[in-house]
Amino acid sequence: PLPPPFQVPLPIPPVLRPAGPGRYEITQREASAEILPGLRTPLWTYEGTFPGPTIESRRGHPVTVTHRNELPVPTVVHLHGGRTPADSDGYPTDLVLPRSTMHTGHAMHDPRAVVTELTRDYTFPLDQRPALLWYHDHRMDYTAPAIWRGLAGLHIVRDDAEESLGLPAGSRELPLMIADRAFAADGSLIYPALPDRPGVTEEYLAGVLGDVILVNGAPWPVHEVDAARYRLRVLNASNARHYELEAVTDNGRRLDLVQVGADQGLLAAPVTHSALPVAPAERYDVIVDFAGVPVGGRVLIRNRLGVGRTRDVMAFRVVRRATDDSRIPGVLSADLPAWQRSDAARVREFAFRAGRTHGRHGWLIGGLPFDPARSDVVTELGDVEVWRLVADVHHPVHLHLAGFRVLSRGGRPPLPHDAGLKDTVSLRPGESVEIITRFDGYRGRYLFHCHNAEHEDMGMMANLEII
Ligand code: C2O
Ligand code: CU
Repeated sequence: PLPPPFQVPLPIPPVLRPAGPGRYEITQREASAEILPGLRTPLWTYEGTFPGPTIESRRGHPVTVTHRNELPVPTVVHLHGGRTPADSDGYPTDLVLPRSTMHTGHAMHDPRAVVTELTRDYTFPLDQRPALLWYHDHRMDYTAPAIWRGLAGLHIVRDDAEESLGLPAGSRELPLMIADRAFAADGSLIYPALPDRPGVTEEYLAGVLGDVILVNGAPWPVHEVDAARYRLRVLNASNARHYELEAVTDNGRRLDLVQVGADQGLLAAPVTHSALPVAPAERYDVIVDFAGVPVGGRVLIRNRLGVGRTRDVMAFRVVRRATDDSRIPGVLSADLPAWQRSDAARVREFAFRAGRTHGRHGWLIGGLPFDPARSDVVTELGDVEVWRLVADVHHPVHLHLAGFRVLSRGGRPPLPHDAGLKDTVSLRPGESVEIITRFDGYRGRYLFHCHNAEHEDMGMMANLEII
């Protein structure tokens, strides 16, 4: 029996305390949590919680996170949205080995992979725009089940300029990690893995969906708010589920979602939406004003793409009137890159399509499944490129290292939610999207892939080498 919606209080993931200046330690271990009332759910966690602890950083202040693997499997940590040197970017074969396989070299097929054991230091320079980033597992072939079991956490980068804007802050800024999961009657998570090899059973080839919507690890939670503006930092951490979020009062009035930021930080200017599509791995930084809602009233966050209980996401209950000195400036940032088509050294095209590989169903980029030994894209540090991405079905495409801007969608100008600097773009069925970016920051081997985590595990990933 699933819990009634809007009863469980919204958890806020704990902020990780540094172990020293710019140093953090995270142990990856098995734990359990009471997600559904009265039941224990076994999880794989960062530091015992799902979501893992939030890391709060300042722009340009590097941090080193030491990950210790006490899980029964190899793991890889990737900071999604990080401008990170390649050796800390969590390449899928760059394993942190568990104790049990420490001496066997288990799952190592790539001669170029760096094998590390038990612990690993990941260093993040964080020389990048302030943004909501997230860290998650990225092991080759097994990313989807690892994230599903709980290996995901937030990493927020801030700076003085953003803080001086006067956006809602403190208890009026809420990170919301939205993820669906499926549970067995005993409270354990159900994932349709194959017994003998990576991938999922036939009926989940399109991606694994759950019938319970979790926000910060709680099912359909509720949060008590002042009648004031709140800054909601939304991440879709679902493996495959898309959302189209709207905020609706009890009496059916729709509240504006005023977007101030995208995956890679602040927009140039706010963009007002009545509903906001959020694909897996995308982040939207949104202001909602509860001032017009009577005390005692509720605002439901709903998913217009859901059916039945997956239409509900969470609720806010307005519990008091309050003063509000926050503001939404008309100009949010002036440092967005303004790359032009004419800046591009080259144009590439990639088709994201289903296909067959080794006699099995796979998800392919340009007709090929992921191969760590192949160079798919080689580009020069500092080059601007236009990429034309073409899809058969929905594919949220993510680039490591480089934030990009959406140039066109379906041959037309980008949609309002494509604004700003992004690192994940949602390709809709049959659609082509052009993005423009500059490969900047570091040389080395990176990735681009579909962030439908099942598609990614079934081959929809490719190498991006910056020389
Ligand atoms: Cu969030 Cu390569 O991933
Ligand atoms: Cu995909």
